[in-house]
Amino acid sequence: MNRMSDIPYEKMADVESSNVESHLKPQKYYRCLLIVTCLSTVLLVLFVLQTLLVPTATSSSGLKVHLSIRDTCTDPCRIVLVESIPEGLEFNSSATHPSIYQTWLNLISDAQSSLDIASFYWTLTNKDTGTHEPTADQGERILQELAQLSQRISVRIAVNKQDSQTQNDLQLLIDSGADVRTVNMRQLTSGVLHTKFWVVDKKHIYIGSANMDWRSLTQVKELGAAVYDCSCLASDLGKIFEAYWFLGQSKTIPAPWPSQYATAYNKDTPMQLSLNGTDSGVYLSSSPPSLCAEGRTSDLQSILSVINDAQKFVYIAVMNYLPTMEFSTPKKYWADIDTALRRVAFERRVRVRLLISCWSSSSPVMFPFLRSLASVHDTKSKLDIEVKIFIVPVSPSQKEIPFARVNHNKYMVTDKVAYIGTSNWSGDYFVNTAGSALVVNQTSDQFVVLTVQQQLQAVFERDWDSSYSTWLNHDTNVKDICRILPSQQEEL
Ligand SMILES: *[C@@H]1O[C@H](CO)[C@@H](O)[C@H](O)[C@H]1NC(C)=O
Ligand SMILES: *[C@@H]1O[C@H](CO)[C@@H](O)[C@H](O)[C@H]1NC(C)=O
Ligand SMILES: *[C@@H]1O[C@H](CO)[C@@H](O)[C@H](O)[C@H]1NC(C)=O
Ligand SMILES: *[C@@H]1O[C@H](CO)[C@@H](O)[C@H](O)[C@H]1NC(C)=O
Repeated sequence: MNRMSDIPYEKMADVESSNVESHLKPQKYYRCLLIVTCLSTVLLVLFVLQTLLVPTATSSSGLKVHLSIRDTCTDPCRIVLVESIPEGLEFNSSATHPSIYQTWLNLISDAQSSLDIASFYWTLTNKDTGTHEPTADQGERILQELAQLSQRISVRIAVNKQDSQTQNDLQLLIDSGADVRTVNMRQLTSGVLHTKFWVVDKKHIYIGSANMDWRSLTQVKELGAAVYDCSCLASDLGKIFEAYWFLGQSKTIPAPWPSQYATAYNKDTPMQLSLNGTDSGVYLSSSPPSLCAEGRTSDLQSILSVINDAQKFVYIAVMNYLPTMEFSTPKKYWADIDTALRRVAFERRVRVRLLISCWSSSSPVMFPFLRSLASVHDTKSKLDIEVKIFIVPVSPSQKEIPFARVNHNKYMVTDKVAYIGTSNWSGDYFVNTAGSALVVNQTSDQFVVLTVQQQLQAVFERDWDSSYSTWLNHDTNVKDICRILPSQQEEL
């Protein structure tokens, strides 16, 4: 039809007159020709409309064009919250979850063909401390199991480039057959690779706050999630891993990223799947924005959308919370998240709770900003932001362990959604540092099954109500409760 409408009338008459149409009377012939031409034009216009308009009409992002159809996920996915509870901590609560240690061991023993790990740094043995710490056993066992696994199947590790730290663990894994790539985030974005996740057999995933550090299993409080038998989600997390893997041998960040890194799943069009038999909308966010291929929601946008979507409450448990660029000079204020929290508290009377951690290395400037948030509390005006500090107690022998005894959680739970991340909450982690998060939105019949959101809420309430949490108000002496080192104190 295309060609036909391009041919002028006269020429067409020539072509046509030589064959079937030749027996027609001239007048009748031309009327017929006119109808044919009109029809052709209409069909041509329809064809053009279809190719130009239909894809943009069915997909706001225009992604479906080259990402093919957003496949329905039929995997029988199961999600399990997993935790590390530091030695000696005991809660009066039934909210308990499998340990991260046991989860990692099981993932290693189940692995059949591949294991990909995105990591910040590795120190799974306590050679690093010079102490003889029996609780390093679990980390040491994980390292041994990973070394054995590396002899059997493909083990790939993406790790942040470390400046000086000796890499004994990674050398052992390389010698056992693992592939290791260091990602020079300092050079690429002036940040670090801070992400912590595993992808096993392109089918199971683990994501959470724990570093590849023996302390993350026994001396630091951590929270993560494992999702089993879920190749749809694993393949999407695999794309984030492949981006790190690529950057491990690149001096620049592709812009734009090639289409194999793009995703169809994000805050606007989450992956629809069944988690423990409950319909769920799930997506993975990533930071910084320069590492987000087409379609990927940035970690900051996912946090803001979860906060803005809350109707009743926003509970946040993070180690560090600062409305600043923590590591930049000159000093820079960065209040995207802070503003969102104050806004939902004021505009929609959402209850906001922040459970923040402190230890000897906490940045003292964090506390005035947290006190400022905690001031947004007034029963008459229905302003309801509260802040508590979670302190992991330390025995004299535990005191000898450097960089331990802290709540390292990085999650948020609202009346709607569970957000499990890997980043501290200050500007740097969203602007130049690589992190990622799992966002789960379950719309189940809440009376029949427990959702991840409800489980995470129970974890938050367990910690918030425990004797390890202390109100932060104007006369809280953070120097003492956080055991802040004298060298840091002058900043207070
Ligand atoms: C959760 O899902 C509901 C229903 O699909 C949707 O309206 C809401 O925006 C989602 N929330 C978030 C934070 O993605
Ligand atoms: C989070 O912040 C603390 C304190 O600045 C830092 O020690 C830690 O490395 C950061 N990242 C991790 C591992 O969560
Ligand atoms: C999903 O099922 C597993 C057991 O297979 C259970 O441990 C976990 O708590 C369940 N998760 C939810 C959100 O119910
Ligand atoms: C558990 O309950 C006991 C008795 O009420 C209390 O003394 C203790 O502080 C509680 N522990 C925590 C972690 O809240």
